[in-house]
Order: sequence, then C-alpha cells, then structure tokens
Amino acid sequence: MKDALLINKVAAAVIGAMLLAMVAGALSSILYKPDQIAENAYPIEAGAVTTETAAAAPAGPEPVSALLASADTAKGLKLFKKCGACHTYEKGGADKVGPNLWNLIDRVQGGVDGFGGYSKAMAALKDTGNTWSYEELNAFLAKPKKYLKGTAMNFGGFKKVKDRADIIAFLREQADSPVALP
Ligand code: HEC
Repeated sequence: MKDALLINKVAAAVIGAMLLAMVAGALSSILYKPDQIAENAYPIEAGAVTTETAAAAPAGPEPVSALLASADTAKGLKLFKKCGACHTYEKGGADKVGPNLWNLIDRVQGGVDGFGGYSKAMAALKDTGNTWSYEELNAFLAKPKKYLKGTAMNFGGFKKVKDRADIIAFLREQADSPVALP
C-alpha cells in the first residue's frame, strides 16, 4: 500500500517535471521567436548600413583643405621628386615636359603663356577661366586622367590624401605671397 503510493508520487513527479519542461520550452519559443527575429533583424540592419554608407561616401577624392595647415612641406618637397622630371617649381624656372609650377595656387588652369605642351583638353580649360584652387588641385593630383580626360600629364596620382596635402602645401609656398590657407 505504502509502496504503491510512493510509486504514484514518483511517477507524478516525473510527469510533472516533463510537463514543466515542455511548457517552458513552448513558452520560451513563443516569447523569443528566434526565427522571426533572425529574419527581421537582418534586412532592417542592412538597409540602415546601406543608407549610411551612401550618405558618407564622398563623390570625389577626400578633401584636402582641413589638412593643409598641419601638412608637412618638407615631405612635400620629397614627394616633388615624382614631378621633377617634368616640372620645375622655382620662380622663373624652365618649362619642361610640363609647365613651371611657380605661383600655382589660384593660377588659371592651362594658363602658362609660352608653354606649348598643353593638351587640347587642358588648353580648353584656360577658356573657362577656372583656377587651381586647393580642392581643384587635390582632385587633379588624386588621378589626373580622371580629373581631365585627355590630359597629357603622365602621372598616376597620389592615392593618399596626406600625400596630396603635403605636396599642395609645399607648392603653395612656391610663390612671392602664398595664398591664404582655407
Ligand atoms: C611625365 C611628366 C609629368 C609628371 C611626372 C608630372 N606632370 Fe604635371 N604636367 C605634365 C604635363 C605634360 C602637363 C600639361 C598637361 C595637359 O596639358 O594636359 C602637366 C600639367 C600639370 C599641372 C597644370 C598646370 C597648368 O598650367 O594648368 C599641374 C598643377 C601639374 N602638372 C602638377 C604636377 C605635380 C604636382 C606633379 C607631381 C606629383 C606632376 N605634375 C607630375 C607632365 C607631368
């Protein structure tokens, strides 16, 4: 009699525990809905990331203006070695394959009188009256052939914005009175 009661109690406890586990499992899947969360979260997050990237991506090369004040002009002079085969930067310096670069900032594009080596594309820029502002120069030196299709300047460009800042800051100093920093 006592044994039967014990067996009943044990059986009830075991069944109770199993029931509890089933209910808990069912409840937790209702509460957390792991599948649904996994499905919903991804597209929402991906959409947000895409929008942010599109908004942050600049249209052209990274701007150089903010870096000029702290740029390294000594490094700029070193970088000029890449230009020196075709350009001089000194006052009254000769035109070579490319025109002399003295007093370059805010100079009219394609505007060196007496330089006969301009491409048609660069010569056409002269007529626009456009000048070599810091950011125009930045875009040109990032990738000359992208900036001006048909340019005669055979130079791949500076990928790093820091390099462009250094050489532009150096070129800025090659003038009697350097143009104010932006
Ligand atoms: C292989 C020769 C070559 C090299 C290297 C070269 N250039 Fe030039 N550069 C030219 C030629 C040629 C032109 C004229 C381009 C045209 O008419 O399309 C020019 C034009 C320019 C102009 C426009 C000048 C103006 O009067 O409007 C600038 C600015 C310039 N170069 C800067 C540089 C700098 C800075 C470097 C070095 C990072 C450099 N170039 C490297 C050949 C060169």
